[in-house]
Amino acid sequence: MRVIGIESSCDETAAAVVADGQVLADVVASQVDVHSPYGGVVPEIASRQHMIAVVPIIRAALSRAGLQIEDVDGVAATAGPGLLGALLVGLQVAKSLAATCDKPFIGVNHLRGHLLAARIKSDDIPRPAFPYMALLASGGHTGVYLVESDTEISCLGSTRDDAAGEAYDKVAKMLGLGYPGGPVIDRLAAEEGPLVPFPQALRDRRSFEFSFSGVKTAVAQYVKGLGRAPTPTDVRCIARGFQKAVVEILVRKVTLAARRYQIPRVVLTGGVAANKGLRQHCAEVCDELDLQLYLPPPSHCTDNGSMIAYAGYLDLLAGKESPIELSPRANWPI
Ligand code: KG4
Ligand code: ZN
Repeated sequence: MRVIGIESSCDETAAAVVADGQVLADVVASQVDVHSPYGGVVPEIASRQHMIAVVPIIRAALSRAGLQIEDVDGVAATAGPGLLGALLVGLQVAKSLAATCDKPFIGVNHLRGHLLAARIKSDDIPRPAFPYMALLASGGHTGVYLVESDTEISCLGSTRDDAAGEAYDKVAKMLGLGYPGGPVIDRLAAEEGPLVPFPQALRDRRSFEFSFSGVKTAVAQYVKGLGRAPTPTDVRCIARGFQKAVVEILVRKVTLAARRYQIPRVVLTGGVAANKGLRQHCAEVCDELDLQLYLPPPSHCTDNGSMIAYAGYLDLLAGKESPIELSPRANWPI
C-alpha cells in the first residue's frame, strides 16, 4: 500500500511517499532563509511560501519514488495542530488530489506523526516495539507521551508555557545567533569550556510537566547584567549553560516516566530531538538505567513528510479515511 503525505504546518513544505510503511521518497523545502531575518516564523509569509513550494515538492517526491499520482492508494496531509494558514495550503492540495484522482484522503495529527516516526520501517534503523515512552520536543510542543499502539497514545505531561524549541529560538535571537536557534546553540554547546549555570524548572516535581519560560528569562537577565553586548566567549558560555539546563530536564522527565510506568523503551522525537547533546545525554542516562533508547534519524525528527505519510498509511490500513470537508485545526491535542 502506497501513501503520499504532505506536511505544511509550520515552516517546512514537505512531501513523502511511503510504501508498506517504508519510505520511498522524502522531499523537504525549508523556509528558514525567509524567516531568519525576523528571528522566528512569520505566519503570513509561511503560508505564501507553502503556496509556492507545495506542488513542485509533491512532483519531486512522486518522481523520486518513480510513481505517478495514480499509483498511490491514498493522500495524507497534516490537518493540525499548527499555523492555520500554513495548514490550509497542504490540506487543500491533498484534498484536491484525492478528489480528482478518486483516492482516499486522510487528515493526520502532526503530533501523532512525530510520535510514530520512530516506527517507520527501515532496513538500517531498529524500530521500537510497543509500548514506548516518547519525549516529543519541537518548536510548538514539548511533552512526555506513553505510546501503547498506533492509536493508543496518552500525554502524561506537557509544557506549561514555552516549548523547548521555542526557548532555543528565543535564546538564539537574544544572543544574535539567528533562526532556528537549536542547531547553532547545539554546535556552540558542543565545544569544551566553562558554562553559565541556569535553573531547571519543575526539576523535583514528580509530574511530567515542563516550563521553559524561566530559563529564557534567566538568560535575558544574565545578558542584561553583563552591561555590554555579549562577546563570542559569553555567547558560548551561555549556550553551553542553556543547553545543559534544557537537555537535563528533558532527559530527566522522560526517563522518570519510563521507570514510573515500567516501560523499557524510550524514544526521542520532534525537532529538538535532532540535538546532538540531547541524544548523547539521553543515551548515557538510558544506559545507566538499563532503558533501550530509539533515536529516529534527525531528518525524521524535524518536520517531514514521511511521518505524515506513515501515519496516513496506518490509518488507511485500518480502513480509516477522513471526510473531504475536514478543516484544519490550530489546536488538536492527541
Ligand atoms: O519539529 P519541528 O521541525 O517543527 C515543529 O513542529 O515545531 O521543530 C522545530 C524546532 C525549532 O524550534 C528548532 O530550533 C528546533 O526544533 N531544533 C533544534 C535542533 N534542530 C531543530 N533544537 C535543538 N537542537 C537542534 N539541533
Ligand atoms: Zn513538528
